[in-house]
Amino acid sequence: MIALEDEFGDILRKAMRGHRIDTRALAAASGIAVSSIEGWLRYHGSARDDEARTLATLLHLDPGKLADSAAKRWAPPQIAHPDVRHHPQDPHPSNGYVFFLDGGQRAALVDPAGLPRNLLRVLRDGAYHLQYILVTHKHADHCDATADVAAAFPNAKIVMHRDDVHAIGSLASKATLVKDGEDLPFGDDGVRIRMLHTPGHTDGSACYLVRSALFTGDTLFAGSVGGAVADHATYADLLHGIQSKLFTLPDDTVVMPGHGPPTTLALEKAHNPFFP
Ligand SMILES: [Fe+2]
Repeated sequence: MIALEDEFGDILRKAMRGHRIDTRALAAASGIAVSSIEGWLRYHGSARDDEARTLATLLHLDPGKLADSAAKRWAPPQIAHPDVRHHPQDPHPSNGYVFFLDGGQRAALVDPAGLPRNLLRVLRDGAYHLQYILVTHKHADHCDATADVAAAFPNAKIVMHRDDVHAIGSLASKATLVKDGEDLPFGDDGVRIRMLHTPGHTDGSACYLVRSALFTGDTLFAGSVGGAVADHATYADLLHGIQSKLFTLPDDTVVMPGHGPPTTLALEKAHNPFFP
């Protein structure tokens, strides 16, 4: 089975933080020992089915889906998108992607991060025009190679949300700042790249929809969500953004997350514990 980005302990931690419930309070409310919960948060063992269901109810998670996570019963099948090439972002554990258009003549990079020489080797593999550098959010493991990629591909437009653009330093003044729901022309055949603003992991977290591929950065993972660590936006904002802006897209949309394996919106609605 494909390994998920987040285990039961990660989901528990994110939901506890999101609802500001600490281990003692959760133990008292659930009747589960503090030591058991502390262990699960450190990936020692896992909850029984009935324990996972009790915790889910207290943390507003889906009981059946959380029980599946505790028992490691679900992971997405191997999913590929014919227009998308994935590359690791060594030394970061994050995912980078290139979306190809016009039979590989034109491309958009999602998240310029990792060792520049590795990334530039990936980007120079093929004769295509790099039209866009799409940045999902401000964290270093998603944008620390922006300057190197921009220098190597000076005609590529850097696209980012205004609230996170400070992370790319002096390049911020050259970035194309898009608003929620706004789209950009990609190629000459009417294809559009739509940006969906989903604050929560960061204030400027952006998802990009290109045809049937949705690049979700650290907003939505297979079987989990990114941590709500924004300066202003909340855990509730994060979940609401996913439900109102992503889950309203077609079910067969392929989700390409910033960490972990690809999935689809139908699979996330059916299996992601954060969405009862
Ligand atoms: Fe992140």
